[in-house]
Formats: sequence, structure tokens, C-alpha cells
Amino acid sequence: MGMEKICVLGMGYIGFPVSSLFATSGFKVVGVDINEESIKRINNGEAMVSEPDLNVMSEAALKSGNLVVKTSPEEADVFIIAVPTPITEDKVCDLSAVRMAGRSIVPFLRKGNLVILESTVPPCTTGEVLGPILEESGLKAGEDFYLAHCPEKVLPGKILYELVENDRVFGAINDESFSLVKKLYSSFVKGNIYSTDLKTAEFIKLIENSFRDVNIAFANELAKISKKLGIDVWEAIGYANKHPRVNIHRPGPGVGGHCIAVDPWFIAEKDRSLAEMIILARGINDSMPEFVVGSVMGKIKDKGDAKVAVLGVAYKAEIEDARESPAKKIVMLLKKEGIDVKIFDPYVTDFDYEMEADIDSALQGADCILIVTDHNMFKEMDPGRVSSLVRNKIIIDTRKCTDRNAWVSQGFEWDTV
Ligand SMILES: NC(=O)c1ccc[n+]([C@@H]2O[C@H](COP(=O)([O-])OP(=O)(O)OC[C@H]3O[C@@H](n4cnc5c(N)ncnc54)[C@H](O)[C@@H]3O)[C@@H](O)[C@H]2O)c1
Repeated sequence: MGMEKICVLGMGYIGFPVSSLFATSGFKVVGVDINEESIKRINNGEAMVSEPDLNVMSEAALKSGNLVVKTSPEEADVFIIAVPTPITEDKVCDLSAVRMAGRSIVPFLRKGNLVILESTVPPCTTGEVLGPILEESGLKAGEDFYLAHCPEKVLPGKILYELVENDRVFGAINDESFSLVKKLYSSFVKGNIYSTDLKTAEFIKLIENSFRDVNIAFANELAKISKKLGIDVWEAIGYANKHPRVNIHRPGPGVGGHCIAVDPWFIAEKDRSLAEMIILARGINDSMPEFVVGSVMGKIKDKGDAKVAVLGVAYKAEIEDARESPAKKIVMLLKKEGIDVKIFDPYVTDFDYEMEADIDSALQGADCILIVTDHNMFKEMDPGRVSSLVRNKIIIDTRKCTDRNAWVSQGFEWDTV
């Protein structure tokens, strides 16, 4: 089958870079998004994400004419679905965008087409939810059209690098589908490409993030116990990890982002009674904002008139993304305690609470500095200069990204999770 033209549904963090990569690899790509604003922004050449390499490549893709973007799909050899799969209040995956994207392809699906789901989904979604929707075309999955799941596992800030360099595990309904997918992605993937069935590929993506969530929960549990025992958890974990077969993750203020804090639930929804450890880990990580706020409140003496400077609201360092960030809950809980919260993040512009325009406005008159995200700017703060701004010299660094001794030598009480 010819694979010259690809129609990609969803022009977000994943779909747009993937489209640009295919377009600069010589394919004709039609990028589709139901959000007219996104299409307008792309056509105006406005940067979608703050990743310089990515923007250079996307610009080249659009200028070459190999990538065109619009609001509805059209006939193609390959369809790739990269639409959102958010989590509902009840902690199950909302597949409505996947269903809608599938239905929008049906009128254009032809014999011999390849359909790929890239969105992160619970096991069995590609085969049992998307497949039957596509079969409303009268064509049969695995016989008349090819079907595969190619999950994405990119690191924001390094999206382009990871799309190209990472090893990939693709799930396919049959061998022919896998051969086509492998040929397609080999146009830009330099990592190894492995083959499995549809639901195993879906599961693998989820267990990678669940592994990290469970490991972080373990580290957070150790942090809580260590605090009670007067043990420095960072020292303890650091030395434990000298053991050749131990790799304990870092404790912190909780887990954020749209992958690690979300994906474990997509396994749990399949059988909550069997997903005991996954659910427990989610609970431990979700409890960290309360633990952090408890530490802050324990240190503030005059609680009636207290001001806390929250530094960093992105869910991880050096990015602008605050989705699912533990900072939201921390700020909410501090405000509930009656604290005057001043927030600063050098990257995030979209946050639920008002933020200060510069770091000094956040620090001015603070009774406690609370580092939630380990942005480089906070690591590099000069304790001497900061001490002239704050009212009380207390700093809680939930990421242990600052030098304790440097702060203590300037008279600060320094603490971590
Ligand atoms: N962002 C990441 O770092 C990352 C990493 C790994 C996996 N994923 C997964 O990839 C998928 C996409 O995530 P994202 O971050 O790109 O989402 P996103 O929100 O950035 O973009 C998705 C886009 O899809 C559009 N859309 C929704 N319904 C549509 C439809 N029916 N037809 C066409 N377009 C439609 C939306 O308007 C939006 O612009 C999700 O399943 C996510 O879990 C994301």
C-alpha cells in the first residue's frame, strides 16, 4: 500500500510535532483540529510550544507546503489520532475526543488505509472502542484496513529529541499493520521499534508512568517517616541508591503533569480491586500538598498576618506547564489557612491564581519561602540578597534544589519535605 499522505487529528503538544516530523520527512500531511483558533494560530506561524528546535522544524514543514492544517479531515493513506484523553472526576479516562475523531474519519476511510491511535488510553481501547467505530464504514479492521497503537512518551522541553531518539513499542492488530507502522515511523525514529499486540502496547505506556508514580510514592512515604524520626530523607535515599540494585526516586511536593498523575488511573479503571498498589500510590502522592502545607504552618509563628512566597507552579523544572501541578492544591490549602500567598513562576502564564510579575514582589515581606518547582532561577537565588527582602528567614525547599548551608549561613531556617 502507498503511504504518501497522512491525516493527523489533533494539533496539540503531540499531534503538531508529529505532523511536522512526517512533513519534513517527505510525506504530505494534513493536520486537523476542531479548534479553529489553533488552526488560525498555526497558519499565522505563531509558536505552538516554547521549544525552539520544534518551532524551526514546524515552520519549515508549513513553508514547504508538505504540512497544511484545517478543521476537518479528508481522504488519506494513513490516519493518526492524537486527541486529548483527560481524566474525569471519577478517575476514568474520557474517551469522547477519541470517539469523535474516529467518527470523523469514517466517511473518508478506504480499503487499505492505516489508522493509528497515538493518544494514551486504557487497555483495549484501540481494538474495542476505536476499531468498532471505524467499522461503521463497512470496512473490517485487520482485513480491509490496518490498525495500530503508537503511544507517545515524550518529555516536555525535549519533545523533538525524544520523538526521534526514543525506543518505541507499537501495538498492531496483525503483522501487516505492524510492518506498515514500522516503515512509516522509521522515516524519522532512530530508536529501536518493537512489536506487540494492541492492548499490550496500551498497557506498556501506562505501566511506565505507573512505575514512576509508585516509586515516587515510596520516596514520599519515606520522607514522611524520616521527618518523624529526624532523619534526612535525601541523605538516606542518596546512600541507599549507592546499592547496585536500588533506585529510589525523589520525594517532593506531589506529582503533577498530565501523564504520571493520570495514567495509573487508566489501569485502575479496569479493575480497582486488583489495582491496590497503584491506587495507594496515587493517594500518597496526592497527599503531599497537605503534608507540605502542614510543614509551612508548623514554622510560621504569627499566623494571623502571615505571607508565604510560593516559588514555581509548573509541575516540573524549566517548563511552562502547570497542568495537574501540586502547586494548585498547595496554594488553595495555604489560602484556606488564611495565608497571604504571593506566587511567582518564570515560565507559567496560565495558572488558577494571580501571580507576581517578578520574583522580588513575591519575596517582599515573606514569612516563609516555599519552593515548589526546581526551576534553575530558584537554585541560583542569592540568600544574602533574599534576606534583605523577606520578613522572616524561613525557606522550605520541597525539591532540595538549593544549597542548605548557603541559606543557613545567612541566618535562614532551611527545611525540605
Ligand atoms: N503532551 C505530552 O507530553 C504527552 C505525552 C505522551 C502522551 N500524550 C498523549 O497524547 C494525546 C494528546 O495529548 P496532547 O498533549 O497533544 O493534547 P493537546 O490538548 O495539546 O492537543 C490535542 C488537540 O486535539 C484537538 N482535538 C480534540 N478533539 C478533536 C477531534 N475530534 N478532531 C481533531 N482534533 C481534536 C484539540 O482541540 C487539541 O488542540 C493524549 O492522549 C495525551 O495523554 C501527551
